Amino acid sequence: MTGGASGIGYATARALRGAGAQVVVADIDAEAGGKAADALGATFALLDVTSPASWDKLVDTVTRFYGGIDIGVLNAGVSGGTPVGSLTDAAYRRIMAINVDGVVFGARALVGPLARRGGGRLVATASLAGLVAMPRDPVYTASKHAVVGFVRALAPDLAERGITVHAVCPGLTDTPLLDGAKAYLEERGMPLLRPEDIAEAVLGCLGSEDTGRAWVVQAGREPIAYTFRGVPGPAGGVRPPEGFGVPGG
Ligand SMILES: NC(=O)c1ccc[n+]([C@@H]2O[C@H](COP(=O)([O-])OP(=O)(O)OC[C@H]3O[C@@H](n4cnc5c(N)ncnc54)[C@H](O)[C@@H]3O)[C@@H](O)[C@H]2O)c1
Repeated sequence: MTGGASGIGYATARALRGAGAQVVVADIDAEAGGKAADALGATFALLDVTSPASWDKLVDTVTRFYGGIDIGVLNAGVSGGTPVGSLTDAAYRRIMAINVDGVVFGARALVGPLARRGGGRLVATASLAGLVAMPRDPVYTASKHAVVGFVRALAPDLAERGITVHAVCPGLTDTPLLDGAKAYLEERGMPLLRPEDIAEAVLGCLGSEDTGRAWVVQAGREPIAYTFRGVPGPAGGVRPPEGFGVPGG
């Protein structure tokens, strides 16, 4: 459970504990992560999702301690919010490293251990910004579109190894990530999701035999698998060879 020290990750870790799972709260914030794990009866592990070495260490430790891994929730993420004209190299690299590398490196590190258990479940926290454009936050939008595309493209390969993978795409959720925007949104009557709503959607993904879906989570609605519109194929009705994308996919 990455980013389990706060917000959506914490609520999801709590829901998983409630469902009887052993949970590892893996987070870069050791103080908050340790407290979260203590409160939940979980284990804390220090993890920087942007670091392949940190992932290797985590997988090694967890596998030795628990004997294997059945579920990976790739949730750690940060907001962007900087206009592209004033975006520094460092800010750009940080957002992409946490939001995109963190999911790709996490999936890469977990696929082997999940397959060795005979299959498993992966869920990545994307965002509604993975499906729609947020004009105020193009880099965050790019990072979350990457997560949705990655999950969808990864699913067929993982299915052959008995692993399902989903993306959850929450709307605005009341967590520290919203920062100063919360008051602004509330003043304008924007309903916010509770972190528990996203946790419930994640548990729904874990229970689904389906794979490769992007689940929209909006305030007051049940999670719904997004239906992607088809794209036009080449003229003349030619279908791309397998593995090169299909119209409608
Ligand atoms: N809050 C929202 O409105 C909202 C909406 C849609 C999607 N999301 C996504 O949900 C996910 C969780 O966000 P949240 O709202 O709970 O935010 P949050 O700030 O409450 O929690 C994020 C957690 O990620 C951890 N983290 C940050 N960088 C890390 C790193 N390099 N390695 C390991 N852990 C790291 C933080 O320490 C923190 O515990 C993110 O991917 C975010 O983009 C949030």
